[in-house]
Amino acid sequence: MTSSLALASWLVLVLSLVMAISTTRVEAARAFFVFGDSLVDNGNNNYLVTTARADSPPFGIDTPSRRPTGRFSNGKNIPDFISDALGSKPTLPYLSPKLQGNRLLVGANFASAGIGILNDTGIQFINIIRMYRQLQYFQEYQRRLADLVGNDKAQRIVGEALVLITVGGNDFVNNYFLVPFSPRSRQFSLPDYVRYLISEYRKHLMRLYELGARKVLVTGTGPLGCVPAELAMRSPNGQCAAELQRAAGLYNPQLVQMINGLNSELGGKVFIAANIQQRTNDFISNPGAYGFTTSKIACCGQGPYNGLGLCTSASNLCPNRDVYAFWDPFHPTEKANGIIADMILKGSPAYMSPMNLTSLLALDTVTTT
Ligand SMILES: *[C@@H]1O[C@H](CO)[C@@H](O)[C@H](O)[C@H]1NC(C)=O
Ligand SMILES: *[C@@H]1O[C@H](CO)[C@@H](O)[C@H](O)[C@H]1NC(C)=O
Repeated sequence: MTSSLALASWLVLVLSLVMAISTTRVEAARAFFVFGDSLVDNGNNNYLVTTARADSPPFGIDTPSRRPTGRFSNGKNIPDFISDALGSKPTLPYLSPKLQGNRLLVGANFASAGIGILNDTGIQFINIIRMYRQLQYFQEYQRRLADLVGNDKAQRIVGEALVLITVGGNDFVNNYFLVPFSPRSRQFSLPDYVRYLISEYRKHLMRLYELGARKVLVTGTGPLGCVPAELAMRSPNGQCAAELQRAAGLYNPQLVQMINGLNSELGGKVFIAANIQQRTNDFISNPGAYGFTTSKIACCGQGPYNGLGLCTSASNLCPNRDVYAFWDPFHPTEKANGIIADMILKGSPAYMSPMNLTSLLALDTVTTT
């Protein structure tokens, strides 16, 4: 009798402790919002009528369920590693029916494979969530969050949240360079096109700021000409494709410049630039230093460098994904995504400007209420 009472009260104590711990965790974890393209899409395109999708095997082969999730990876993508660092669950795709109730507090992923800075990028993929629409969804999300926790708290959650935006590669690969004599390449020289992209990107970033975002990681593009797809299609000798390398070389420094300009205009360090090109160059020039046996051949694909077509169940598939930098013709492996995320977290000023994510998160601690 007494022992069962003691057991009962002990259980109550343990349960309330567990509840206290889990409530604190929910309150303490910072919300995380993700915008952009396939490099950061957690599965929104699963809910759309589009050919830009990653919802069939072998995508996701290295997840615990070994099943595809909609991520363009064998396992985790960059946002997943950042969620880990925040101590949060991965962000749910905004279109997921599971994004309800308290799950809204974790944040949301608005990214959609195939999109670009420009509306006309990725038109061949038909039904994808373009940047302006991702930002509309962010507004809609905030109304739903306010219904849950009230206006003031919703605003605070958004202001303290971390935001990641990764977009721009498709504006070259799936627009300017998609076909010879593409409409954009007839309209603009490459330097003029880059200037136009940067000016349109600036508008998206300003819109994010107007919608309350105050800690925004902005990634540049990788070395676009060195991905297995471009080696297969544009490089007879295995050298990175020159035009796309030129594009990335023009684009990335202007992006950093634009971000610095925005920060000084807004009088703060709202936007942080992550130099993905530099880090990816590191493992392209010295794959062994990062544990890769190749940074040219995709793990999953067909043709030269496994760089042609899509990764499907009929493709060549490498047995050990951890020794490949590229999972499919365009996208990094989980291993490479982890290395890039590590740079975002801990990188020196050569990679992260004006600071890395660890320093950014240390600037303030989330108030718990
Ligand atoms: C993109 O499309 C949306 C919806 O049609 C439109 O409101 C927006 O102005 C367009 N953006 C540009 C830069 O044309
Ligand atoms: C982050 O950046 C700061 C400032 O550049 C640097 O001192 C620090 O070593 C970097 N890494 C971590 C983990 O904070």
